[in-house]
Amino acid sequence: MPQSKFTSDQYRPIHARTASTAPWMTVDDQTYLNFCSNDYLGLSQHPETQAACHQGIDDFGVGATGSQWVCGYTEAHHDLAQALATWLGHEKVALFSSGYMANLGVLQALAHRHDWIFHDRENHASLIDAVRLTQCQHTRYQRTKLDQLKTQLQACQASKRWLITDTVFSMSGAIAPLQALSELAQPDAVGLIVDDAHGIGVLGPQGQGTLAHTQCSPSAVTAHIITFGKAFGTSGAAICGSQSIIDTIEQHARSLAFTTAPPPAIAAATLASLRCIQNHPELNATLHHNLQYIRRHAVPLGLNIKVSETPIIHAPTGASHTALQWAKDLKEHGIWTHPVRTPSVPQHQAGLRITLSALHTETHLDQLLEALHATQPETVLAHSH
Ligand SMILES: Cc1ncc(COP(=O)(O)O)c(C=O)c1O
Repeated sequence: MPQSKFTSDQYRPIHARTASTAPWMTVDDQTYLNFCSNDYLGLSQHPETQAACHQGIDDFGVGATGSQWVCGYTEAHHDLAQALATWLGHEKVALFSSGYMANLGVLQALAHRHDWIFHDRENHASLIDAVRLTQCQHTRYQRTKLDQLKTQLQACQASKRWLITDTVFSMSGAIAPLQALSELAQPDAVGLIVDDAHGIGVLGPQGQGTLAHTQCSPSAVTAHIITFGKAFGTSGAAICGSQSIIDTIEQHARSLAFTTAPPPAIAAATLASLRCIQNHPELNATLHHNLQYIRRHAVPLGLNIKVSETPIIHAPTGASHTALQWAKDLKEHGIWTHPVRTPSVPQHQAGLRITLSALHTETHLDQLLEALHATQPETVLAHSH
């Protein structure tokens, strides 16, 4: 048997969920309240999204049957791309099968070997891998030290530089300083690429994401990546930008060209999710109400948790084994959270990642709060005082 290179604290078992109705999930015949999914608005089970998916299968079959360069691109993809461009104020949109592939593709298409890439230390693994693949020189910066970043950018001799950031950091829910970063960008010399996987659908007045939330114009970024596996409740991703940037991506992103296109039914379902985000603002309002509810009740209970402006809550534990034990104890109370640990976060920065959904009711949130209160480890408590 091949040896795993992970210690037991790092090993991730892969559990099979049996049929589940959000916000519940069933594993090994036990039912839990799901506080680990990215289905922030509950759209994966929304009747309009599901109906559009069924219709998409009736119209186009199950698979896309080819790459976008061949015959995989359908009217369902086209309608989705058009609707996204209009909604977000970009000229053009390219579709990908996942956010991971979009992130690989954006740099494959835009970055050249002698460019220099500046990227946030906490960026998602897909962006880290994308930078590695370019073989460009690169610098990982700390967003709390933007003066240092400015000096480094000015000192850099490369004629083209790239600034790359998650808009919402997936482990903590913290929001990137997009206004300040956009001031460092200069369209010809320093391009700004943002990954809004966790902001789209849930931030901004109409759910248009972190650019809208931070009042950053879409034209301030060279490429704006959004993903559909989170608030949209489907799967896949899009890169949005100017006509010429998206044309370049369509021609040079290998992760778009040399793979089967996303299933048309998923494109149709994603368009239905977009219409839900636009037409059912109460979903987002409920999600934000839930965040406020947790924020209000966590302090009197003495919980050491960090409630962000996004659906992601971080409960720091430091040690990986504490996070694992805490998640296990919560399961005994019927609550499923995710213990995050290296390599998802640096050593000694483990914790629980707890995510909220519009489908959680106050009763569910009370169950979470009570369970956290009953199980919070001594070491975490000591840390909070
Ligand atoms: C910030 C960020 N970017 C990209 C991805 C990858 O998206 P996908 O799951 O669609 O591959 C994720 C999530 O997994 C993410 O959190």
